Amino acid sequence: MKPIRIFLSAIMMVSILSVSVFAAQTQDRQIRLLLQRMTLEEKIGQLTQYSYGMDLTGPAGEPIKPEEEIRKGRIGSLLNATGAEKTRELQTIAVEESRLGIPLLFGLDVIHGYRTIFPIPLGEAASWDLSAIEQSARIAAIEASAAGVNWTFAPMVDIARDPRWGRIMEGAGEDPYLGAEVARARVRGFQGNDLGRSDTILACAKHFAAYGAAQAGRDYSTVDISRRTLHEIYLPPFKAAAEAGAGTFMNAFNELNGIPCTGNRYLVREVLKKRWGFDGFVVSDWDSIKEMIVHGFAEDGRHAAELAMHAGCDMDMMSAAYIAHMADLVRQGKVPPAQIDEAVTRILSVKKRVGLFKDPYQYCSPERERELLLNDKHQAIARDVARKSIVLLKNENGTLPLDRDLKRIALIGPLADNQTDPLGSWSAKGEDKDIITLRRGIMDAVSSNTEVLFARGCDIDGEGTQDMAEAVRVACKADVIIAALGESKNMSGEAHCRGDIGLPGRQLELLQKLQATGKPVVLVLMNGRPLTLVWPSQNIPAILETWLLGTQTGPAIADVLFGKVNPSGKLPVTFPYALGQVPIFYNHKMTGRPGVKGQAYRSTYADIPVEPLYPFGFGLSYTQFSYSPIRLNRAKVAYDEIANVSTTVTNTGSRQGAEVVQLYIRDLKASVTRPVKELKGFSKIDLKPGESRKVTFALTAEDLAFYNQTMTKVTEPGKFEVFVGGNSRDVLKAEFTLLSK
Ligand code: NOJ
Repeated sequence: MKPIRIFLSAIMMVSILSVSVFAAQTQDRQIRLLLQRMTLEEKIGQLTQYSYGMDLTGPAGEPIKPEEEIRKGRIGSLLNATGAEKTRELQTIAVEESRLGIPLLFGLDVIHGYRTIFPIPLGEAASWDLSAIEQSARIAAIEASAAGVNWTFAPMVDIARDPRWGRIMEGAGEDPYLGAEVARARVRGFQGNDLGRSDTILACAKHFAAYGAAQAGRDYSTVDISRRTLHEIYLPPFKAAAEAGAGTFMNAFNELNGIPCTGNRYLVREVLKKRWGFDGFVVSDWDSIKEMIVHGFAEDGRHAAELAMHAGCDMDMMSAAYIAHMADLVRQGKVPPAQIDEAVTRILSVKKRVGLFKDPYQYCSPERERELLLNDKHQAIARDVARKSIVLLKNENGTLPLDRDLKRIALIGPLADNQTDPLGSWSAKGEDKDIITLRRGIMDAVSSNTEVLFARGCDIDGEGTQDMAEAVRVACKADVIIAALGESKNMSGEAHCRGDIGLPGRQLELLQKLQATGKPVVLVLMNGRPLTLVWPSQNIPAILETWLLGTQTGPAIADVLFGKVNPSGKLPVTFPYALGQVPIFYNHKMTGRPGVKGQAYRSTYADIPVEPLYPFGFGLSYTQFSYSPIRLNRAKVAYDEIANVSTTVTNTGSRQGAEVVQLYIRDLKASVTRPVKELKGFSKIDLKPGESRKVTFALTAEDLAFYNQTMTKVTEPGKFEVFVGGNSRDVLKAEFTLLSK
């Protein structure tokens, strides 16, 4: 027992020292003076967050009377309180009726829009258009901030390699490089250049960390990954968010290699706060402090509070463990007062950055709220972002785009005239009635001579087939069939995982019946995750992946269907051939026995291919692009030189179009094995028919670095392959040698 206690108190000393260093360096005078005036109870109040009202986004906790608690200085932040008037009312209590008048932070899950709903984040990531992604976050911030919200629990930057996991819809897909770029863009969009302005909001990078690596793709499940995988795959988007200035981070629900993230001091104190120098604050996830009891890591609520505070969790969302136990823990010497002061300083500093000490009511403006929410400008931008997010997966014989003068179009399927699901999960204050459905979008796009026939065919889920015969009858009358199939919004998102990722219910059967009519069929998919699509990919001539596009679903899809816009999205995540391949991702390792189906003694399956159905980075266009052979500025690159990798891309088709030119590398031999490909750059370019553009990517030693056997980040000299192309599979290849230092 003894040596353990000595060890623990050594850890405690280190943490006390680093805590006071933090306080000395970051406290400004105003905050220092405020801190001096605060009682221990008031300090702990600042570390406490509750959900307001009945709009819960997690299991209900013990009921409290928020107004009374605010008055007593026992709340630092509320989540789920919205609306300029409501938040002003609550802020007035904090500012005018609590002893110290410290303003509240109002948090909400503004994940892909506030009232104007943009595509789900996975869809937006498919645009590979960082300025569009930034702009979408910007509009979300403008709307939310006008309605009293000054803190969003976004961006969710969890890498996801398992499509069963429902929260795959909320992030940017499987790749750490793309994930990091998108994380930066989203933080910039929410926070702008000046977090103190009344139209910017505080970002929160979540869920720290590796939440997406949930075993078996089941939400909240155990995560057990190597430290190398953690640092190389799961952490880069978080680091990027911290570098971009994200003011807050949120703990993940999961355990990571035996330690729940909320109690994981390595992650929070060591990596985030010390190595990365993060000076914002960390909030737990909903009740995740107390859930450490269920994990089997904490004895009771009091122990959980102690562990979370030692680990560096500054604010308690919804478990009320801090408010219940922290004062006692401090008085009994279990938690050093300096840790409380650090947490409070972090929270107050962020409140100051957000401008709350200058004007606590700057976010509560009913006039701005009326003027800005869902306005025409925001709608137009949402339509633009939505059409950029659409991915063309197949287009045999130029089935698409359709002629807007067609005589009769049959629009079939449970998502064709759906006024609910296209909003997707986490749709904040988005309202069903705001959705422009696909049916409406198509009717507005076609000529006045075109008849648009409609039938639902079947439900999204379930066994009912009563509508199917009618749908086939309708389909038979048309020149072309558009089948709008996929998932409901509740099939993805938190706690909504699927054990089968095919088209749900009887939808595949409906599609088969439509195809059997012999009419050309266009499949419009709406879904929150990759689906298994082997039959459609072999039998349906045109397939559009549209994700869940939000308010402007109909116009955006119609723009693409009828060729007003040329699709340019690329998959940010691999679409497996079959569920048995999952987890599947493009940046896998080589193994000692790589192979293809049917080869003996190889790393293959007996019954399905090894390759995915659609690879990461894949997406077609109505035009074609050709790539000239890769040119390197030199074949032997000195260690501190830059390798320039260029190609000239030409639009060889007859329509204007945008291409995402992607750069991948492979380190051919290293002291630890490296992935077969790693994305290291991309550029989205727009080309007129016949136009060419040279694209050059610069690679430095830093881009080639990885963690070696002792987990030191190094770049090892030797041979590297570089690949350039329009997806991760169909690429051109060249090679260079990096010379020793
Ligand atoms: C739990 C979710 O995991 C998290 O992402 C969200 O921000 C909180 N609930 C608050 O709604």
